[in-house]
Amino acid sequence: MRFATVLVTSILSFLSIITFPAGGATTTLQLNDDVLGLIVFKSGFHSDPLKSLDSWNEDDDSPCAWRFVKCNAGNSRVSEVSLDGLSLSGKIGRGLEKLQSLKVLSLSNNNLTGAVNPGLALIPNLERLNLSRNSLSGDVPSSFSDASSLQFLDLSQNLLSGPLPDNIFQNCSSLRLRTLDLSNNAFSGSVPIGMSAVHNLKELLLNRNQFSGSVPPDIGLCPHLSRIDFSNNLFTGTIPASLQKLNSLNFLNLSFNFLTGDFPQWIGSQTTTAAAFEYIDFSNNALTGTLPATIGDLKSLKFLSLSENKLSGPLPNSLSGLASLSVIRLKGNAFNGTIPNGLFDMKLDEIDLSRNNLAGPIPPASSKLFETLQVLDLSENNLAGDIPAEMGLFGKLTYLNLSWNQLESRLPPEIGYFQNLTVLDLRSSGLIGSIPGDICDSSSLAILQLDGNSLTGQIPYEIGNCSSLYLLSLSHNNLSGTIPESMSLLTKLKILKLEVNQLTGEIPQQLGKLENLLIANVSYNRLVGRLPAGGIFQTLDSSAIEGNLGICSPLLTGPCKLNVPKPLVLDPYAYGNQNGAHDRARERSTNFRHHRFLSVSSIVAISAAAVIAAGVMVITLLNASARRRMAFVDNALESMCSSSTRSGNLTAGKLILFDSKSSLDWLSTNLDNVLNKAAEIGEGVFGTVYRAGQGQAMVAIKKLVTSNTLQYQEEFDREIRILAKARHPNLIPLRGYYWTPQLQLLVSDYAVQGSLQAKLHEHSPSSMPLTWPDRFKIVLGTAKGLSHLHHSFRPPIVHYNVKPSNILLDENLNPKISDFGLARILTKLDKHVMSSRFQSAPGYVAPELACQSLRVNEKCDVYGFGVLVLELVTGRRPVEYGEDNVVILSDHVRVMLERGNVLDCVDLEMGEYPEEEVLPVVKLALVCTSQIPSSRPSMAEVVQILEVIKTPLPNRM
Ligand SMILES: *[C@@H]1O[C@H](CO)[C@@H](O)[C@H](O)[C@H]1NC(C)=O
Ligand SMILES: *[C@@H]1O[C@H](CO)[C@@H](O)[C@H](O)[C@H]1NC(C)=O
Ligand SMILES: *[C@@H]1O[C@H](CO)[C@@H](O)[C@H](O)[C@H]1NC(C)=O
Ligand SMILES: *[C@@H]1O[C@H](CO)[C@@H](O)[C@H](O)[C@H]1NC(C)=O
Repeated sequence: MRFATVLVTSILSFLSIITFPAGGATTTLQLNDDVLGLIVFKSGFHSDPLKSLDSWNEDDDSPCAWRFVKCNAGNSRVSEVSLDGLSLSGKIGRGLEKLQSLKVLSLSNNNLTGAVNPGLALIPNLERLNLSRNSLSGDVPSSFSDASSLQFLDLSQNLLSGPLPDNIFQNCSSLRLRTLDLSNNAFSGSVPIGMSAVHNLKELLLNRNQFSGSVPPDIGLCPHLSRIDFSNNLFTGTIPASLQKLNSLNFLNLSFNFLTGDFPQWIGSQTTTAAAFEYIDFSNNALTGTLPATIGDLKSLKFLSLSENKLSGPLPNSLSGLASLSVIRLKGNAFNGTIPNGLFDMKLDEIDLSRNNLAGPIPPASSKLFETLQVLDLSENNLAGDIPAEMGLFGKLTYLNLSWNQLESRLPPEIGYFQNLTVLDLRSSGLIGSIPGDICDSSSLAILQLDGNSLTGQIPYEIGNCSSLYLLSLSHNNLSGTIPESMSLLTKLKILKLEVNQLTGEIPQQLGKLENLLIANVSYNRLVGRLPAGGIFQTLDSSAIEGNLGICSPLLTGPCKLNVPKPLVLDPYAYGNQNGAHDRARERSTNFRHHRFLSVSSIVAISAAAVIAAGVMVITLLNASARRRMAFVDNALESMCSSSTRSGNLTAGKLILFDSKSSLDWLSTNLDNVLNKAAEIGEGVFGTVYRAGQGQAMVAIKKLVTSNTLQYQEEFDREIRILAKARHPNLIPLRGYYWTPQLQLLVSDYAVQGSLQAKLHEHSPSSMPLTWPDRFKIVLGTAKGLSHLHHSFRPPIVHYNVKPSNILLDENLNPKISDFGLARILTKLDKHVMSSRFQSAPGYVAPELACQSLRVNEKCDVYGFGVLVLELVTGRRPVEYGEDNVVILSDHVRVMLERGNVLDCVDLEMGEYPEEEVLPVVKLALVCTSQIPSSRPSMAEVVQILEVIKTPLPNRM
């Protein structure tokens, strides 16, 4: 409101002054001129968010106390108005022409829009006008060619357009410009002639516009020009020879234009010009010709860029005479010959000679260069010979690119001396030998590209020291050995390229922890096994994994080979702080096996100590209910099968069937034919399983892995017959066997519903998930089957390999344990062999199987059973590889129980469930997975407890 009133009164009084010029009281009226001129100027702004101009009050006698206003001490008239960076928006209003003494008007870095007010050129004494960094549009008013006092005109960084007024330089006698900055606008057309008249011009900045035509030839007639920037325009033609007359020229930037013709041969040849030049940038034009030797006369030159032209010929040796040079960029030309040795004996910060035709060796560097060089790019030339070992002495080097040359060099070990190197690019440079282990001693490396060479040997374990890496490319070499699991320490890694090498083994599961990884390619190696569960590995395209020996993926049609034991327990290095990771990695590289063994056993010991207390507590709770148990019949060894042998003679190569019934006759008469048609249905620790026959007559045939099995049919027959006596509703009956020294088959019933593994973890979305009663039935049945094996035989039959894929289901979801007792047919129960065989079932294996100092007995089955129960309750797998951790199911549930929220981990798929059953079952499972074998209950006790849990209480209907 008040602003509007002020506005109106101001304009009225202003107009009255103009219409009726005052005659008498001059001084008072002149003060009013400045006040009113500024008030009217202020009214052009429609927003002053910082209230910068609140002190500008039209009632004041003088503006000299106003903010951002300065007065001339002599006549008390306004000499300077500087409103830079005040977020003012609006237009440049009228009124300022009344300010007779105004010398400086600076409005830069605001939000001013609209045209440049032509009246500004009429401010009689204005010397400096700065309107840069606004959003002014339109063209430069022609009135500016009459602004005779103007010395500094800065219109840069606006939206000004159109050609410059033809006469801008022509009223030359009056124009005294020292600086004309029109950069960063949208001006077009050619630069008007007449520039020679602007005698005082020192800085002419036209960069980043759309000026076209030739660089004005009379530019050489402005004798004081020291700074010319015509870069990023559309200039054509040649570099005018008149430039050589500019004795003060030190900055000349003509880059990013369309200039043609030969490189100016006069450069440097006139000592007066030569003395001044500090900066020359002719890059990104189409200049031809060669460099004159006189270029070495530019003693003050600090920056030389001639990149991306068509220059050719040799690099003159005289370049080493450029005593002040710090940056030389000659990239993307056709220079040939060798690199002058002198160039590597200078105090340069940056050398970029990439993409030329340079040949010969990389010159030896001098100590001068060691101390200064930060960037060295010699890529895409024809350089040959060695990478000089002294390169490691470039202490400040951050970027080294020698890619695409023909060096035929080893990587000098000194390469690891680099303290600040962030990029090392040696792609396709003819490297031979191996990757030095200390390549990352400086750990600042972010990009390491060694692809397309002939590197051999292993990827060094110390690669884990390259903790800053985000791109690692070793593809297209002859690297062998396994992928070091230390790579999982490269937590910043985004791109990993290992394709086309000879790498073997499995991809370490730990790489799944690389959560920043976006791209990985391991194709065309000799890798096998599963892809890491975490990270991007499960989503990799087939092109990133194809061409290996046996990577397991639904995307690949080839074989799937699992040959490396899975980790049994947590990787101790997966947790804890990252400090000292290097030391650990080094330690592990030398002492890996020993260290790992210690870790496993110490972890067992530690967790056992922690868990034993909880175990005892839960046992006590369970015992209360166990007291109500019914008498358990501890059956003596008893034969549950008819044990009549159809084929009494033990002729090798004959099928032996135990059953008196003839339901398997078809098999014995037709074995070859049956085996030929048998379909593989699974792979187990002891061999491959096939399905044969049809309908009711279906059988499962297991082809045993023959190494380590009993060598005499008599022994084999005896052991198998003991196993065949193990008949129980929850055991898969063994029906017979076939024996030759080379081939051993076991025949057993086929279970219609497949394995619990498939039903629980791999069921199709359409099939019904298991309900709680189903699951309890499976838990109880499995317990009964195991109990039978443990307690009905002396010595007990130990399964050793309890896991869901060995629990088969019939059509009523009754569990039937398969594969039991096969350890009996091994020549001897070698725990070491056992543990390595069973490690294909991570998480089910009782710790004592991995720890040779402990005695192994049937309690290891109790452990596996406990894990299986947890799996049934939670629907989760015993070991899950998350993005940055490994979840061991039993530990996870134990923690949840301690926190009191164990029901949170119950599988939601099972629908409603009675807490009073699920909770004790979970507790029972945890006791079964106690680390100490003697803390685990026997399977007989487990069955009793389960039956108590299931017994309906009287008050429950
Ligand atoms: C300048 O104007 C633009 C567009 O009107 C607006 O988005 C921006 O916030 C303004 N800046 C200031 C500093 O007022
Ligand atoms: C104009 O003002 C900007 C700051 O916004 C300053 O960088 C520039 O040097 C000034 N131009 C002249 C010619 O003084
Ligand atoms: C360099 O190239 C020029 C042609 O541009 C050729 O005449 C000259 O022989 C070449 N010199 C060397 C050393 O290859
Ligand atoms: C490496 O870089 C750091 C940080 O920029 C710097 O302080 C240090 O001096 C550099 N080292 C060398 C040898 O230049």
